[in-house]
Amino acid sequence: MSESHPRISKAVIPAAGLGTRFLPATKATPKEMLPVVDKPAIQYVVEEAVGAGLSDVLMVTGRNKRPLEDHFDRNYELEEALSRKGDAARLARVQESSDLATMHYVRQGDPRGLGHAVLCAAPHVGEQPFAVLLGDDLIDPRDPLLSRMVDVRERAGGSVVALMEVEPSQVHLYGCAAVEATGEDGVVRVTGLVEKPDPAEAPSNYAIIGRYVLDPAVFGILRETGPGRGGEIQLTDALETLAADEAIGGPVHGVVFKGRRYDTGDRGDYLRAIVRLACEREDLGPDFRAWLRRYVTEEM
Ligand code: G1P
Repeated sequence: MSESHPRISKAVIPAAGLGTRFLPATKATPKEMLPVVDKPAIQYVVEEAVGAGLSDVLMVTGRNKRPLEDHFDRNYELEEALSRKGDAARLARVQESSDLATMHYVRQGDPRGLGHAVLCAAPHVGEQPFAVLLGDDLIDPRDPLLSRMVDVRERAGGSVVALMEVEPSQVHLYGCAAVEATGEDGVVRVTGLVEKPDPAEAPSNYAIIGRYVLDPAVFGILRETGPGRGGEIQLTDALETLAADEAIGGPVHGVVFKGRRYDTGDRGDYLRAIVRLACEREDLGPDFRAWLRRYVTEEM
């Protein structure tokens, strides 16, 4: 593995989805703005990118996504009001999201799939490797994943996907990878990929969870990738092309994640994420845990 691969500084966050699983909450509010305890889900994702050293963030948005831009921008009226009251703690929390990263936005226009959303980032990203973070997947901040992926890319070049072993019955919900061992613990070589396979055709139970570090060669492939599963342009299909021919954009590796992940696009998992994160918070945790214990033992 050489040391000559360029550093990664840009993150792309596709956020154009309609959030139909959360209707009616998402009728007029983007799903990315749903709170997980007291922060919108999308802020955890931007914080994760920044935590891995990526401070240039491009969101691929669509209609009705203005609240996302507002959330990561200054809110002078609110800041004024809080400083007049001398409420320094809340003022800091308000300013946190606008000070996080350099934010950019591009609109997807036609919702033609995740691959198409990533292609919308091409003019901003240029010829640099970049990361993609899907907003529905929340990775617990204490279990670093993206920084490990960035490290693999910097050593091996090519592209890197995050993989997690799931129950075979769940594989049809994910992109699924055929893998080979490498000499490194937790890092595999990806030899093939299938988007949402039927269980009988799944090459393994390694599922792609929504983190990618991509070689810019993916853009050329995406331009030539036709609609796949669900009639959409699939990022998984473009990665399959890259995995099949290393000469195009280098190898595809997988980092196997064993930490805590929540699918905030699923209502049950969304609730579990809130309960777990609330229990672990220093400020809210002690009271909440005591209540939860009483509730489970006495009222359920
Ligand atoms: C997308 C990807 C899929 C991946 C999943 C991870 O699917 O297409 O390959 O496994 O995200 O969350 P979606 O869940 O958006 O249908």
